[in-house]
Amino acid sequence: MRSWPAATTMSITVLGLLACSASNGASLSQGQRTPAAGAVRPTGDAASLKEAVGAPGIGDPDFPADGNGGYDVSHYSLKLSYTPANKHLAGVAAISATALHDLVRFNLDLSGLHVDGVLIDGEPAEFQRSGSELVVKPPRRIGKGEKFTTRVTYSGTPKPVRDSSNLGIYGFVPTSDGAFVVCEPNGAKTWFPSNDHPSDKATFDFELTVPEGLTALANGELVGGPVTAEGKTTFLWRERHPMVTYLATMTLGEFATRTGTTDRGLPNFAATAPRFDGQLDRVFRLSGEITDYWSTIFGPYPFSSTGGVIDDFHTGYALENQTKPMYGGFIPDESIIAHELAHQWFGNSVSIKRWKDLWLNEGFATYAEWLWSEHRGLLTAEQIFTGRLSMVDSPVWSYPPGRAKPDDLFHESVYNRGAMALHALRQRIGDAAFFTLLRTWVRDHAYGHATTDDFVALAERLSGKNLDRLFDTWLFKQGRPRWPERGDAARSRADRPGARITLPAPHAHPHGPRTAVPQPVSSPPRPEASRT
Ligand code: TRP
Ligand code: ZN
Repeated sequence: MRSWPAATTMSITVLGLLACSASNGASLSQGQRTPAAGAVRPTGDAASLKEAVGAPGIGDPDFPADGNGGYDVSHYSLKLSYTPANKHLAGVAAISATALHDLVRFNLDLSGLHVDGVLIDGEPAEFQRSGSELVVKPPRRIGKGEKFTTRVTYSGTPKPVRDSSNLGIYGFVPTSDGAFVVCEPNGAKTWFPSNDHPSDKATFDFELTVPEGLTALANGELVGGPVTAEGKTTFLWRERHPMVTYLATMTLGEFATRTGTTDRGLPNFAATAPRFDGQLDRVFRLSGEITDYWSTIFGPYPFSSTGGVIDDFHTGYALENQTKPMYGGFIPDESIIAHELAHQWFGNSVSIKRWKDLWLNEGFATYAEWLWSEHRGLLTAEQIFTGRLSMVDSPVWSYPPGRAKPDDLFHESVYNRGAMALHALRQRIGDAAFFTLLRTWVRDHAYGHATTDDFVALAERLSGKNLDRLFDTWLFKQGRPRWPERGDAARSRADRPGARITLPAPHAHPHGPRTAVPQPVSSPPRPEASRT
């Protein structure tokens, strides 16, 4: 590992501290304060140097070390080879970015692995490792607005993140025959240097080399056929649409694959590990059918292909990897396929800026499960809502889902009470406004980012109603709401005959093995007519 001379480091640190205290103002004596400003603007060299250092975090207060400040990535080109026998990953990541301010130093996120060298626009750059940060010092100052490419050559054995508060194990997970790569919330840094936070999206090229006989999968579409030479096969995948880092994958191993199109003509790709061979056609067919159905409900599918992958590493969970949801060691039921594919609109195309807004992903994808159940003639969304509302002891009542907690991000409430919030909203504004809202949401924020405030504002604008209390009740308040509220009773169909249901038993995690399947009910109410 190389590093820049200690003297340079020192002066940057000292000047950085000086600039920092000056800009805070608070540490200056009263006499030095400008009365009106409250903060003194730094001037001179100290200030410009401080401005020129990219922050080690992108500014998510719940995950202060995640992502980085000072630049915006537009494209990752990952040229990687992996050998399962010795768990060795090696390659080059080329990261194209634009400087958001002058940069004399900036960070990438990378955990473990050995960095062999860093080039910036072809010139060697100095670098240091510090925890999960790769600190890079460009050979010359990069100017604000300048585009630059950082090329990191690295190798080693990737170590997944083990975090019991966030669904156990994630990131690059070595398996007996390859790897299962599922990275939410911040596991991309276990296999490539990145700005590892959902608020920085980029397009991706993957050039993945694996021992002949294995298949390497990534997001997007294959660019040409795989090429085999000297016992190794290289797969080129390209994701042309912006993608957050946690959705990137390079799952590899022994896979049977099926390629084709959905009924509506969208390219469709399925893959199964040998243990799930019998599921290949079913995953292919259902992924196509469900993607097509969602495009009639949520609006045009945002990406260039769809699909699904079952690997044999048992996580019990699935991840909505862009264009290729991955199911970890179980046969996915329709409900979870519907969930992961709904994420392509909610979470993947429209992404969160901050993790606290995670219900915008999980509440919506869970609500999609309810819509799918209803579409299939099983329980209606109304029945599932009513059933969940009647669960007085549910942990969701003590966890308001509108602000996901960093130490328990994927709490059941973010899923189920998030979905309930949407159903309560649907009851209040009616089916026509509700489904128009969903479609407008995905259209207005396609390939970008949005916040809970954005959603509330759009819901109010489209419905012409003040919805503060409704969102406050469902997203931000402790306790089980009294619902329907006075005045809403007429609009609720909760006590309609036939609304009796048998719900799946609550489980600690939303996608644990299902313990019960929703039971069909006679003549379910069908609101389809007004879904336009
Ligand atoms: N987003 C996934 C879902 O709800 C859950 C999830 C989060 C996950 N992090 C993960 C799954 C890591 C696998 C690995 O569908
Ligand atoms: Zn989900």
